[in-house]
Amino acid sequence: VLGKPLPPTPAELAIHEAIRRDGPMTFARFMEMALYGAGGYYDTLQREPRLRDYFTAPMAHPLFGRLLALQLAEVWQALGRPQPFTVVEQGAGDGLLAQDILAGLEREAPDCLAATRYVLVDRTLPAVQHEVQHAVRVERLVSDRLPVRGVVGCILSNELPDAFPVHRFQARNGELLEVYVALDGERFVEQLGFASSARVAALLERAKRTVPDMADGYRGEVCPALEDWVRDVAGALERGVALTADYGDLTAPLYGPARARGTLRCAYRHTVSGNPYVRIGRQDITAHVDFGLLQELGVQAGLSTLGYTTQAMFLRNLGADLYLRALNALRVPRETTAADRTGITELLSDEGFGNFKVLAQGKGVGGPKLSGFHTENPVRSGLTARTALAVPRLTPQHADLLGSRTFLGTKREYEVDWSKLFQ
Ligand SMILES: C[S@@+](CC[C@H](N)C(=O)[O-])C[C@H]1O[C@@H](n2cnc3c(N)ncnc32)[C@H](O)[C@@H]1O
Repeated sequence: VLGKPLPPTPAELAIHEAIRRDGPMTFARFMEMALYGAGGYYDTLQREPRLRDYFTAPMAHPLFGRLLALQLAEVWQALGRPQPFTVVEQGAGDGLLAQDILAGLEREAPDCLAATRYVLVDRTLPAVQHEVQHAVRVERLVSDRLPVRGVVGCILSNELPDAFPVHRFQARNGELLEVYVALDGERFVEQLGFASSARVAALLERAKRTVPDMADGYRGEVCPALEDWVRDVAGALERGVALTADYGDLTAPLYGPARARGTLRCAYRHTVSGNPYVRIGRQDITAHVDFGLLQELGVQAGLSTLGYTTQAMFLRNLGADLYLRALNALRVPRETTAADRTGITELLSDEGFGNFKVLAQGKGVGGPKLSGFHTENPVRSGLTARTALAVPRLTPQHADLLGSRTFLGTKREYEVDWSKLFQ
């Protein structure tokens, strides 16, 4: 069966039909349908978990969740140890990060754990959900918005806004024109036109103001969905911190000459490509997050920036290197810790997760110094003072970067009966 062409997904067929019916569509609508429509990438993952091929920091090593737990416990203290302390994780996926955070709180801050109410929110529910079992209230909500109010605590996300649909633009004669998706027979083609809405026009203006000299042919993305999201987060939070980890940059470098082809990336098995018009519904599509815009929108909505740094810095500030040292000091044969070492190193790697960014925004908390954003900080000193650090270890639910649990082989795709998948 290997090599047999796969049938078009319902998402691809629906996009064709919509363009034939309504004419060219914005890229954001295309991306929305390709990812979240019936038979889109995430819809397919709900039906067939074996097809999931994205790889995120929580999967690389449980230390990610452990260090976030240390940061959350500090937020709890800064808020005056509220009861309940609500942690809303948006885009929580299969719940692996939730599980590691709660295990981290259990180990490092049981008082905080006892006060915690953990809410997992996702617009799609992967078919396999990790059991999040702890002596706290855990809720799962399916929604593409934040269906909570009055949160005293933290609204947390890992790799969420990069999955929001973006509009694409191209520079021509000093103007930024929007890219539309059209059909030439059966083939997707792109057309340039005016901005599809006032919101897109305003974001294009802002991009041009920030980087006035984009060369002809320069391509980029804007994401009006960020505006709704930040407003949702600010509206949901009564008192607390929004913590966002994702790939992206501040506005000027995001639209700098080094990224003249934009940041749209499609991921399919081991390969990353820039072509969203193939494997529709079978490949992931994402774009870098504009962390400059997030901060501006935050301020407008009542969220002040408490910290912004690279993920490597954030994790090191919270003691990632100390845990790595503790792992190396374990009196066990070195090969038994090799996979853990690889996972932790991956979290800190400048070419990978380490280059992601972490943003903390606060509402009604004053200006607490959060340890993740300062090289000298109480969390780190506390860890340094300990004689032994218990390092969380990889479980079968995490990716084993030395073994074979990282990605699924392409062959799996052919083992899936696609005709039954969408019945
Ligand atoms: C790349 S996955 C990351 C999953 C998980 N946070 C992790 O780190 O492994 C992106 C997740 O965001 C979810 N998502 C996308 N848009 C969303 C929205 N508007 N509201 C809630 N979840 C959303 C997707 O369904 C998906 O589970």
